[in-house]
Amino acid sequence: MPKGASFRGALFSFAAAATKTQSLFFVASAMRRQYNARMSKEVDTDKVVRQHLEMEGFFTGYVIRGAKARESAEPLHPESQEKASIPGPSSNAAEELEAIAAEVRRCCKCGLGATRTHGVPGEGSPNARIMFIGEAPGADEDAQGRPFVGRAGQLLDKIIAACGLKREEVYIANILKCRPPDNRDPREDEVFSCLPYLQRQIEVIRPQVIVALGAHAARTLLGTEKSIGQLRGQFQEYSPGLGQPTIRLMATYHPAYILRNYTPDTRRRVWEDMKKVLVELGLPVPDRGKG
Ligand code: URA
Repeated sequence: MPKGASFRGALFSFAAAATKTQSLFFVASAMRRQYNARMSKEVDTDKVVRQHLEMEGFFTGYVIRGAKARESAEPLHPESQEKASIPGPSSNAAEELEAIAAEVRRCCKCGLGATRTHGVPGEGSPNARIMFIGEAPGADEDAQGRPFVGRAGQLLDKIIAACGLKREEVYIANILKCRPPDNRDPREDEVFSCLPYLQRQIEVIRPQVIVALGAHAARTLLGTEKSIGQLRGQFQEYSPGLGQPTIRLMATYHPAYILRNYTPDTRRRVWEDMKKVLVELGLPVPDRGKG
């Protein structure tokens, strides 16, 4: 395995583990409080544990999906009944995403916190079945605090519309939440600091398909050094963490790359990728996009 690949893989696993450790800490502290309370007086222990689990999910973005937690949850993904067998997003997914966004906006974990104009957490539906994930905000995104609003974003909007979808129905985010100066490539320490935000967003939204836009997003999410040419065109599996089902991931060319290489061949390949995504989701492939 190339040196970079193993480092990226290790970095990815470490970031996931670090965030989960935080969750375990909250659970352990919930259990200790439950024990202390029981020793002093009779209390409704179920209620105490439930409250702690709900708080844990709210602050960290991780939701403990036990029988009790499910009991108090509202209906799962309305669009897909078969999801009832798979834990879906919690009833307060929108609040959890907003809490993550608020953390991003005040984040100073790496040097980009000092150079950005706005953090760009991501936007879209908390119930999105597709998440589009790019590399990092550019100048337009930094100015507005919203992902994919510049030229590349306009092309992404067209790709989404060609799929018969609306931008508000999907979720759009980036690996980095702040713009690297002069749009330079993200550095490994920046990815290390920032990736937990995206991992938590994925955990909350639980999309059925992730579309990784470009080599950087695809490699980071998959922990590989393979080229975009090797990765695109067939589904890969994104692993959200130990014990959780993988999520199908389609890598495709970044809209900025498509703009630089605006050939029928590039556009055909992207459309081939998106058609596979639509078929995977059981959505109709619009006529005008066929072929
Ligand atoms: N390119 C990206 O990767 N993300 C954006 O949000 C904009 C341009």
